[in-house]
Amino acid sequence: MGALVPTVSLKDVVKTYSNGHEALRGVSLDVSRSEVVGIVGPSGCGKSTLLRTVNGLEPIQGGSIALDGEIITVPGTSWPAIRAKVGMVFQKYDLFPHLTVMGNLLLAPTKVAKVSKAEARSRALALLERVGLADRADDLPRQLSGGQQQRVAIVRALMMEPEVLLLDEITASLDPEMVREVLDVVLGLARDGMTMLIVTHEMDFARAIADRIIFMDEGKIVEVAPPSRFFTAPESPRAQQFLNTFTFQEVHHHDE
Ligand SMILES: Nc1ncnc2c1ncn2[C@@H]1O[C@H](COP(=O)(O)OP(=O)(O)OP(=O)(O)O)[C@@H](O)[C@H]1O
Ligand SMILES: [Mg+2]
Repeated sequence: MGALVPTVSLKDVVKTYSNGHEALRGVSLDVSRSEVVGIVGPSGCGKSTLLRTVNGLEPIQGGSIALDGEIITVPGTSWPAIRAKVGMVFQKYDLFPHLTVMGNLLLAPTKVAKVSKAEARSRALALLERVGLADRADDLPRQLSGGQQQRVAIVRALMMEPEVLLLDEITASLDPEMVREVLDVVLGLARDGMTMLIVTHEMDFARAIADRIIFMDEGKIVEVAPPSRFFTAPESPRAQQFLNTFTFQEVHHHDE
């Protein structure tokens, strides 16, 4: 019964920024429970904007967004409640520098969700264990590597026990040798059935983790395909062009 209701549903979503730029020009997308959707496309096509509309960081000007069948883009929506259900991790792990890892992890559950400190602590320790950082709870963020900090940022999102996780280029500012450890954590979440929308420029990762690839261009979804097809035989000229450009940039990058 409930399985038929998409976990996230966007219908004809239009987002126009105050300068008049139409960042989303009618985007419709249903994401099922435990599905992993990889969102790719050229810079500026609207990927981050799309994720940000789902947890209310960007109000929309047209269409609607529903979580578990409940429309959230209506007046009176409790955004703190929505953000407890929709976890988000950004490119730049924005941990509070003056708080320890544990301090960062306890903040939202104890202040916003009113979970007891003892329960939040044991949840935090279990999650840190899972990402290989059980012994770093009392460290300050600056004592951790970029990859470790990003794993803490993922744990912080998981502390609220979200129904869906939005990941926006979470490895983009990491040194190459730290990318793997972060992606492995995300692969583990996918195996455990976490519903995720993942924006990434790591094409190998998108191919490995996603059930479906969404290719966007100029504020629209241009192509939807299983990764096996998207990465070998994209149908739209724009996706073909994008994948070619991407390969070139990667080679160029490694040559530098
Ligand atoms: N606050 C803003 N005000 C005005 N325009 C914006 C704002 N944020 C983004 N835009 C514009 O909206 C479009 C979509 O931006 P968005 O950040 O969603 O792209 P993206 O696909 O995430 O790009 P990238 O791959 O570079 O992260 C871009 O043209 C961008 O310049
Ligand atoms: Mg972006």
